Amino acid sequence: MDTIVSLCKRRGFVFPGSEIYGGIGGFWDYGPLGIELKNNIKRNWWRAMTQLRDDVVGIETAIVMNPRVWQASGHVDTFADPMSDCKDCKRRFRTDDIAVSDNGDRSCPECGGELTEARMFNLMFRTYVGPVDLESELTSLMQGMLEETLGTGSYDRHARIKRLKEELDRATVYLRPETAQGMFVNFDNVLTTTRRKLPFGIAQIGRSFRNEITPGNFIFRDREFEMMEMEYFVRPGTDEEWHDRWIEERFNWWLGLGVRKENLRVREHAKEELSHYSTRTVDIEYDFPFAGFSEIEGIANRTDFDLKKHAEWAGRTLQYFDEATGQQVVPYVIEPAMGIDRCFLTVLIDCYAEEEVKGEKRVVLRLSPDLAPVKVAVLPLSRNEQLAPASRKVWDMLRPHFVTQFDDAQSIGRRYRRQDEIGTPYCVTVDFETLKDEAVTIRDRDEMEQVRIPISNLVSALRENLDAS
Ligand code: GAP
Repeated sequence: MDTIVSLCKRRGFVFPGSEIYGGIGGFWDYGPLGIELKNNIKRNWWRAMTQLRDDVVGIETAIVMNPRVWQASGHVDTFADPMSDCKDCKRRFRTDDIAVSDNGDRSCPECGGELTEARMFNLMFRTYVGPVDLESELTSLMQGMLEETLGTGSYDRHARIKRLKEELDRATVYLRPETAQGMFVNFDNVLTTTRRKLPFGIAQIGRSFRNEITPGNFIFRDREFEMMEMEYFVRPGTDEEWHDRWIEERFNWWLGLGVRKENLRVREHAKEELSHYSTRTVDIEYDFPFAGFSEIEGIANRTDFDLKKHAEWAGRTLQYFDEATGQQVVPYVIEPAMGIDRCFLTVLIDCYAEEEVKGEKRVVLRLSPDLAPVKVAVLPLSRNEQLAPASRKVWDMLRPHFVTQFDDAQSIGRRYRRQDEIGTPYCVTVDFETLKDEAVTIRDRDEMEQVRIPISNLVSALRENLDAS
């Protein structure tokens, strides 16, 4: 893991959030290569889930929603983790992350100290909509309390606290902890505007926020992250069959991404693990070096829970008219849900390899060309006045077609290694022969084989290679 974190920092994949201020736990910034890889993952998912299917449409909904959404969905009451504090070192932990000893107790994993009773902590971030000046109100209240203690102030603070609390409650909204609710509250809008028939799905990619008690393991557990979720609406009674189909579909998507099968597995949730809305959930797990098999995607049968709850809370009917039976039905929902950041980490770990080439260590990211942040690097054999114009010309020609890099610093061998390390599938070398024969060398990342190609065929040859691999 340290190797991956250091590669990410050194090569501009991922930086600690607000790093110059010492960072902030659970928030990360994606660098120039990171954003390319992330976009490629998103594009791949979007294509598989919407473009290539005739039964799924995409939407994008607001991060901040009417707070009643989260009351209806059950998140205000139940989206919480148990938290314990160490009485000695004062550190805070997610209780169920702490191992239970033989005598059934839990003690502080840092200093062995005694822990407080577990308290439930709601993971939703709260903020306020509108001009709520919480800070100055609180300051003036505290001033009032001080004056009261000294016997000089007015005694109206209870009324003011009550008013402030009411104002805050009215203005409180949540940063969404999942994108799913955006799909449920737009069920009717999508149904009417697209005239879909069951079964059909609504997909979304977007940011989610969870005030995790213990974020960590790099970008595995964040407080701000991106999700890709799809709500697939089906006739009640067909839900179990569709659930199985989606589990298979999603597992194959991970394989198609290039993740090795032996590092993936499917795990059934035990009854006591199930979310409040689910009758069955299956996780796709990856064998992470730091934690063993851990969840990278969940595929849940959410039943008709969400549509029914929103219908109840919003006072609307959220139903589908089944022409075959002439009846209104509330569809059941199968939901594949995954985090992009966790997928990003999975792909990096799975593709990372170290090998020996001619007695030297070579680090190579064996990313599929579809995911590779840079597709082609243009490398003049050496930094030279004669080669510079020809190399620039080749680079200018490739830029409209591929994400490229140009590198003329240090030896050609070092530059190949730099490109291998970020997973660039092809390097194009411009040498002195190029000035005579108008041809260049393409070197491929995995086999390190080199072939000579006329510049006039370069774009099509690279495209063919990228599509074929
Ligand atoms: N709508 C269903 C849902 O939110 P979840 O299992 O809580 O289900 C789905 O989350 C996926 O989102 C997980 O499989 C994981 O990939 C990702 N995820 C969840 N919490 C995360 C966090 N704190 N940081 C990064 N990714 C997270």
